Amino acid sequence: MDFIEWDDSLSVKVNEIDDQHKQLIRLINELYKAKKEGRDKNFLLPILDELINYSFVHFTTEEKYFIRFRYPETEKHQRAHSGFVDKVTDFKEAYYDGSATLSDDLLEFLKDWLINHIKGEDRKYIDFFQKKGLK
Ligand SMILES: [Fe+2]
Repeated sequence: MDFIEWDDSLSVKVNEIDDQHKQLIRLINELYKAKKEGRDKNFLLPILDELINYSFVHFTTEEKYFIRFRYPETEKHQRAHSGFVDKVTDFKEAYYDGSATLSDDLLEFLKDWLINHIKGEDRKYIDFFQKKGLK
């Protein structure tokens, strides 16, 4: 069983965004698996990098729709996105220079943040996007 399993309760009813969420889950699962297998930093850092880069790509996709459709909660949602990118980037730098280790807490944070974000902030745009005809 994977660390995070995707199921329909995570769907935001937009295929493109669901696919991106699945990709983020895949990367967190990959990081979890690599840590569990005792892989070293040279193996873990590129996965972490990919997770940060892909988060950025994904958040940009959501924000592009917020702007296009004038989503009323754009600013609050964008702040949540940039808070996440900042936090994970800070961690990556600390991990890179040896002042932090990739702990179970960090993996739990990634998992909880993503699930709570999808089921909280993201869920709020489902009806709004559907009314705009996005699928
Ligand atoms: Fe989001």
